[in-house]
Amino acid sequence: MRIYQVKDYKEMSRKAANIISAQVIMKPDAVLGLATGSTPIGTYRQLTEWYQKGDLDFSEVRSVNLDEYKGLSADNDQSYAYFMGANLFDHVNIKPENTHIPNGLNEDIEGECKRYDAVISALGGVDLQLLGIGNNGHIGFNEPGEAFQTGTHCVKLTENTIAANARFFASMDDVPKFAYTMGVGNIMQARAILLVASGEAKAEAVYNSFFGPVTPRVPASILQFHQNVYLVADEAALSLCRANHCI
Ligand code: F6R
Repeated sequence: MRIYQVKDYKEMSRKAANIISAQVIMKPDAVLGLATGSTPIGTYRQLTEWYQKGDLDFSEVRSVNLDEYKGLSADNDQSYAYFMGANLFDHVNIKPENTHIPNGLNEDIEGECKRYDAVISALGGVDLQLLGIGNNGHIGFNEPGEAFQTGTHCVKLTENTIAANARFFASMDDVPKFAYTMGVGNIMQARAILLVASGEAKAEAVYNSFFGPVTPRVPASILQFHQNVYLVADEAALSLCRANHCI
């Protein structure tokens, strides 16, 4: 694992965008695994800026996203498909047909999971997977549990997550109760992994994931078994690692 310790969110975003750019420049038809959430927004903004300056070209890039809420269409502003359009895809020259996100409207759970695994295989696997991390060490929607899930699967969201999302929807019935997510196995098959973390709230998850025991109770801890991980984190997110003299 290579750890890039940076000052703050802005530097984290720039360094992560640097790594993604390097991948795209070296392999213009790279398969990028992409994430949503607040952490990668600055990275996507930086990539957009470099694209607009003419330094980056996404015309051959392919992408697969980690996850999507079940029941939400791409035009729902809470869907991850919508997020990707708003934060990256609509601003760069990636071809819509080269972008892939689980189909939240597919009611056939088994079919959708198989379809998405097949999409990833047909692309030849992921070259560089971008990941955020949850405060509890989750990656994608792989929450702490008894076992690591391998392929794409459908997860039932916790009551906490449902309640936290309720404010974005007209009624409780509209809040998604399930989500499709790549499994830990899909993530581990990526040829390289770039995990971004910012802020004190992530310090415990980062420390437990990279310097604690490997356990499904901390899903990101499996990354210790991956040969090619880049952790780009700011001082606050690395504070516990520093306090424990791990870095
Ligand atoms: C998003 C995803 C999630 C987030 C994680 C961190 O596609 O898969 O695992 O990466 O919840 O979210 P933020 O960045 O909002 O703290």
